[in-house]
Amino acid sequence: MDDLSKTLLNICPLIDKHVNNKKIYNDSKQINNDFINLDKNNSDMRQLLEYIFDNSIKTSHPMFLDKLYSGTNTVGVIGELVTSILNTSMYTVKVAPLFSQMEVELINKINKLVGYKQGGGIMTAGGSMGNLMALLCARYKYDNRVKYNGNMNNYTIICSKSSHFSIETSSIIMGLGLKSVIKVDVCLDGSMDMDNLEKVLIMCKEKGKKIIALVLTVGTTVKNGFDDINKACEILNKYNEKCWIHVDGCIGGSLLFSNKYRELLDGLERVDSLTFNSHKMLGIPLQCSMLLTMDKDILKQSFALDVSYLYHDKSEDLGKNTIQCGRKVDALTFWLSWKVLGFNYFRERVDKAVYEASRLYEFMNDDERFNVICKPNAFTLCFYPVGINFDNFMDGMKGKIMIDYTCDTDKYFRVVFNNPSACANDVYDLLVDIYGDICKSSFMKN
Ligand SMILES: Cc1ncc(COP(=O)(O)O)c(C=O)c1O
Repeated sequence: MDDLSKTLLNICPLIDKHVNNKKIYNDSKQINNDFINLDKNNSDMRQLLEYIFDNSIKTSHPMFLDKLYSGTNTVGVIGELVTSILNTSMYTVKVAPLFSQMEVELINKINKLVGYKQGGGIMTAGGSMGNLMALLCARYKYDNRVKYNGNMNNYTIICSKSSHFSIETSSIIMGLGLKSVIKVDVCLDGSMDMDNLEKVLIMCKEKGKKIIALVLTVGTTVKNGFDDINKACEILNKYNEKCWIHVDGCIGGSLLFSNKYRELLDGLERVDSLTFNSHKMLGIPLQCSMLLTMDKDILKQSFALDVSYLYHDKSEDLGKNTIQCGRKVDALTFWLSWKVLGFNYFRERVDKAVYEASRLYEFMNDDERFNVICKPNAFTLCFYPVGINFDNFMDGMKGKIMIDYTCDTDKYFRVVFNNPSACANDVYDLLVDIYGDICKSSFMKN
């Protein structure tokens, strides 16, 4: 490591070149197999890095609207670098004294925003792992003998048809299988249909199913539907159902930082757990996620084991609260960004993203060349171009803009606003140009 700062200085021009690059990606080159081949080693690192920058997607480009993350921020990148330089693991206070405190501080801060008075939590390797750990807690809470005896029959998880697939993956991992996940219908905007939830609940009771958890989502993956937490709690109360309520807030949880849109999360303080991803809408480098719990002891109860070679005393070692052993330091990137950029940076970032999505909706809704699927609730807008072949439109976008699509029943595109430099006006103008070019070229062909 003696030469670290010298090496860093040497690659700084490459970073500058990447930052100033106007292209989203380099479409002209095929990735060279010789480059990937590990047998051809002893290469010059600078050249390798140059090739990597040249042939990777520039996710910080304002027209990268493809995924639920976008670029990163300078402070976060520095945090990531320092994390790697200090290279430690989060299991014990002994080896991560400062980082353990930072993680606890972040968890406490987000718990306060949620409204948990004495909550707990842990940072997880992504939102999917957070969802899994929440369901493991739910099952433990339902019957704590599961920690020793394994599964009982008829355990059931209820979620919506728009829930993230990690709920089903979790059920597979938990040995419950896909058959144990019952999916409630959704409304046009992707949120859970509460009348159908009531029907599903009645059906579960009639069939004697043991509901371990109801999973709600605030900000579904495609349409950003927000499940009505208070309504769902009322329905559970009506049938005296005491199951664990988990909220997947990997996308919409970031509205905890907003004043304008916080009401989309009303009722959050009533639920048992929440997954929260700061690597998505808050722009912290991937990965930075946490699971928060209303009961501060439930993680330890669910997962802690007597590992005498690792946990030697009564220290608040965070490793006891998770299913991981060695765990990367995920706190520093978020903690440092919060400290340096401040709470308002996050608030402005999410508010702007919601605003841009609503602007694009206004433009497109007034334009007969585009059909919008529904009014956006938050960060995403779904649409399809009218009278144009879907694949032709995808071809027309190549190299200019990246947006993803889904093939639900029909195919449609999803634009995600996240990057602070993404602007609805520019996106709309570009999509209109692409539409026009395709019409022109098909006219010429005919
Ligand atoms: C609603 C929702 N929950 C969970 C996840 C999974 O999060 P991660 O990619 O961090 O595992 C996603 C990912 O897009 C998501 O959209």
